[in-house]
Order: sequence, then C-alpha cells, then structure tokens
Amino acid sequence: MSRPETNRPDASAPRSFGPARWPEHGGQVAPLLERFGLPADHAVMDFSANLNPLGPPAWLNTWLAEAMEGLGRYPDPHYGEARRAIAEHEGVTPEQVLLTNGGAEAIFLAAARHAGGRAAIVQPTFTEYARACRHYGLDVEGVALGGERFELDEAATVAAMSRCDVLFVCRPNNPTGTLVPQDRVETMLAAAQQHGCHLVVDEAFIDFVTGDERLTPLLARYPNLILLRSLTKRYAVPGLRLGYLLGNAASVSRLASLQMPWSVNHFAAELVAPLLADGDYLARTRRWFGTEQPRLQLGLASAGLKVVPSRANFFLLQPAAGPDATGALFEAWLQAGILARHTRNFPGLDGGWLRLALRSRDDNDRLLAVLDARRST
Ligand SMILES: Cc1ncc(COP(=O)(O)O)c(C=O)c1O
Repeated sequence: MSRPETNRPDASAPRSFGPARWPEHGGQVAPLLERFGLPADHAVMDFSANLNPLGPPAWLNTWLAEAMEGLGRYPDPHYGEARRAIAEHEGVTPEQVLLTNGGAEAIFLAAARHAGGRAAIVQPTFTEYARACRHYGLDVEGVALGGERFELDEAATVAAMSRCDVLFVCRPNNPTGTLVPQDRVETMLAAAQQHGCHLVVDEAFIDFVTGDERLTPLLARYPNLILLRSLTKRYAVPGLRLGYLLGNAASVSRLASLQMPWSVNHFAAELVAPLLADGDYLARTRRWFGTEQPRLQLGLASAGLKVVPSRANFFLLQPAAGPDATGALFEAWLQAGILARHTRNFPGLDGGWLRLALRSRDDNDRLLAVLDARRST
C-alpha cells in the first residue's frame, strides 16, 4: 500500500523556506552543509562534537552482538547492578546513584525536582539547562561568567542563590572549557545551604580534566549538592544514551520518583559495569588528553586565534579581528573541511565565538595545517 501523498518529503519543492536552521547542538554536519550550499558529500572533519576521540572501546561491537539475547526481557527497573558498579567507581553507596538516559535526562530530572520554582544558570553554558527549566515551568535568571577568562562572579552567584530554588553550573563549562575551582564550589554550597538552594553541578566532561577535580567527596557534607555525569561523552557512545547523577540518598530517591520507568535501555544498563571496568581505556584517554590538549591549545593560539584557556576537551575561540569576523571564519573553515561549533544559541556569546573539540593527533594536525594555510594566503 502506498503512503498518503501528504506524508512524503517533497524533493521537488522550491527551497523557498530559506537556508536550514542553525542546529542547536554540535555533530550536525548535514544541516550546515545545506545551509552553506555545499554538497552533501563535501568532506568534513567534525570538530563541533566534543566526544572522546579514541572512539568507543574496541570490544564494544562484539559485546553488543552478544547482548542481543537480552532484547526479549525488561531491564531491572532499579538498575541494581549498574548502580552498584557506579557506586564502587565513585566511592559512594548505590542509594546515592541514579542511572539516567544520558546526562540529558539527568538535567531534566534535576529541573523537574523544582518544577514551578526559580532557577539560576551560570552562563554562557550548555543550553539544555534553560530548556529543561522552561519545560518544567521554572523562572530562570542567568548569572554571567565575566571577563576575558569567563570567571565566576561569586557575589552575583550567591545573590542569585538567595532568590532561587536551584542553581545550575557546568564544570568544566561547555563551551568555555573553564573550571570553577573546588574551593569556590564549597563557598557556593555553604551559601546555598543557608538559602535553601540546591546546587546542580554538571560534570559531563570531568573525566577529561587533568588532576582529581571530581566533587564526589563533597556529597557527604552537602545534602544540597547534585552531580551529573555523562558516560556517552567519556566512552564516545552518544547513540546509546547513558549517564547518571549522584546526590544524598534522600535527594536521589526523590529524583528517582520523577523518572520514567525503564528509562535506560537494556544495552546501556548492562554496559555500565564492563565500561567502568575498562581501566585501560580511561588510562589511554588520560594519556592522550595530557599531551594533546596543551599541544592543540598552543597551536590554536599560535595560529593567531584568541583562545580561552581551557581545562576541557574543547576550546572556545575567536578570530583576532574580533566577534564580527567569526561568521566568515566559520564559513571559510567549513569550505576547507573543518566544522566548528557555532555559538549562536549561547546567551552572551551570540555567535561571536566558535568552539573546536580536541580530536585525534592526526586530525588536530590537519586542522592546524588548514589554519596555517589560511594565514599564508
Ligand atoms: C555539559 C553537557 N552536559 C550533558 C550533555 C548531555 O550528555 P549526554 O549525551 O550524556 O546526554 C552534554 C552534551 O553535549 C553537555 O555538553
């Protein structure tokens, strides 16, 4: 039976709707090629998505094939084994762990917990905090990171917390790559406690940071702290959707009551323990990051770009000619096969900056060669 005419995409329709919209996230090559009138097979290296460039662990394909037999069963609704594995990895109890459908679900649950209330968001930052807050009817105010290095304004943050039920901070922050120091977080937590405000710290990229910067030990002292993590970033498996949140047992139980049943699928849930047990993968990730991150940071600065000093696996940058030259640079790079992440939907950046992710050494070399060639033309 043929499908009704109205459901078919009309390939012959005139392109009267204007160019494709700017995508809201990185990793969206096709709409950007279309927007700039480039052919769909234009060769592009995607520096816009900030995943682990080592790619998924090598054993994953075989593992997934073997896990197929579980398709006919419901996952354990409490994800006991996965939570135990995470608890052991993090040094907390399983009651302090909630497994989520990517870091994204963790963000939406953290917002749902305060539905109808007031939130503050330290920004420019990942746009899903604002979207989650709007979705659950929270009033949102932004707290701006200030100056050339996008530093936290402690007084403004504490003032915002006195008016809000929850404050969202990303650490290291997407897209600036900056990291609020631990002692600052503690000051904020103490102030938040006084005002009855919860602090949600998204540590989706913390595994890429050199040194032990995790805030997990603070959970024992601050019941108002929630930490969010993304396994999809760490293991380069965004298609699987896998993340978790940590908090005190009472908060986690409250957040669990807001979660959809079986929110995490069988494959993702079963994968948690073997992923966390693959210490070699994490060690290789750290070795690669420790040498490649400073090398690329230096290379970008040497190419004449203004680069925000980053602790993460991505860099926020601007052409020396300033924010008005950023649009042209984005297009020129795309023509040359380099896809950067635009910043049009980050309040406070408004398209005046670009974000580049760290990739493999070879890819990073090719990027630097393109930048070099453009300088000498
Ligand atoms: C800061 C931050 N948190 C969370 C996420 C979502 O991660 P996940 O793919 O695990 O849902 C992203 C994705 O880009 C992110 O940048």
